[in-house]
Amino acid sequence: MKVYLVTGGAGFIGSNFIHYMLKKYNDIFIVNLDHLTYAGNLENLTKIEKYDNYQFVKADISDNEAIKNVFEKHDIDYVVNFAAESHVDRSIQNPDIFVKTNVLGTANLLNAAKDKWELDNGDFQAGKKFIQVSTDEVYGSLGKEGLFSETTPLDPHSPYSSSKASADLIVKSYFDTYKFPVNITRCSNNYGPYQFPEKMIPLVINNCLNLLDIPLYGDGLNVRDWLYVEDHCKAIDLVIQGAAPGEIYNVGGYNEKTNIELVKTIIKYLHDNVNEDITEELITYVQDRKGHDRRYAINSEKITRDLGWKPDVTWESGIRETIKWYLENQAWMENIMNESYKEYYRLTYETK
Ligand code: NAD
Ligand code: DAU
Repeated sequence: MKVYLVTGGAGFIGSNFIHYMLKKYNDIFIVNLDHLTYAGNLENLTKIEKYDNYQFVKADISDNEAIKNVFEKHDIDYVVNFAAESHVDRSIQNPDIFVKTNVLGTANLLNAAKDKWELDNGDFQAGKKFIQVSTDEVYGSLGKEGLFSETTPLDPHSPYSSSKASADLIVKSYFDTYKFPVNITRCSNNYGPYQFPEKMIPLVINNCLNLLDIPLYGDGLNVRDWLYVEDHCKAIDLVIQGAAPGEIYNVGGYNEKTNIELVKTIIKYLHDNVNEDITEELITYVQDRKGHDRRYAINSEKITRDLGWKPDVTWESGIRETIKWYLENQAWMENIMNESYKEYYRLTYETK
């Protein structure tokens, strides 16, 4: 039975990944290690929390003792590191925690895995692997043309993307220096169930349902390449099972949308299906994000060629199913709308 240490498994993508893996395989054991920051939510996991082959551990990836203990207690085969501070706007407000968690936390995890998996001759136990879940934001920003490939130079702009790029370089250095078995995945914008409503899609859905202004940064023409979260989970699984150590894989949706197109799509669905008062009048152009990357778009040919991955979910069905999920799970959203969320919202948007 393979043992997976999934870090950040109470967040958006991590929880989707745990659901995906436990549905697909019944001969694996998952240890979900999460610090339960504002973004971590055990409600994302209620369907599987009692499974015999699942265990939750509350810990910080940058806590040396706690991570060592997990490696002592379990014979971990794969580390899948989702744990991170993940929101660009928060990184502009408070960069320090991004360095601590995303850079130092990743280095701490790497060291614990290396100590445990290293043999006396400097080789590593067979079959072990460390997967770093990274982002297309490490490549910076594109103009109207072109796609990011795995050989695009790193040129991150925000404290968030810079911390992720720094972590990528440390992870890569462990392969280059020690031949420690790693893979890095760099994915475009995910969407789907369980996404924290500081991010664009759940924020827009939530504001529409409450007839609140929809804050659109700048001219609304920044472009993101949207990927349904389950397609991302499938890619990570393929990388774990099939990728050679040291390889980096981009994962993208081939699904570019301007922010204004995205917002209008959500408004139209909710106007037609939920409440006629939800209209484009809710759209409010606000001051742009500082250093706002203009366009992200991914070339995923390498993962398709090497591992047979391609996205299965079309934008039309993915966004429809996503909106329906938030409609059917309004209690989940309401539980997040606490004082701390409201304070963050005020701080972020009242000055815009
Ligand atoms: P998220 O913010 O929803 O979840 C992050 C999780 O990490 C939370 O459960 C949080 O509690 C946990 N965490 C934070 N600090 C921790 C610490 N010090 N120790 C242990 N756990 C900690 O993020 P997400 O959107 O699910 O992103 C997951 C990963 O995927 C991140 O590494 C992110 O950089 C990357 N990524 C995200 C996207 C996207 O579109 N959301 C795209 C590409 C890559
Ligand atoms: O590209 C992958 C990245 O996608 C991940 O690495 C990040 O963890 C994830 O948060 C996401 O980053 P973005 O900054 O692209 O996502 P966000 O949902 O914050 O914003 C999407 C776009 O919408 C972006 O151009 C900014 C814009 N936006 C966002 C918010 C929250 C607005 O116009 N208004 C808003 O209120």
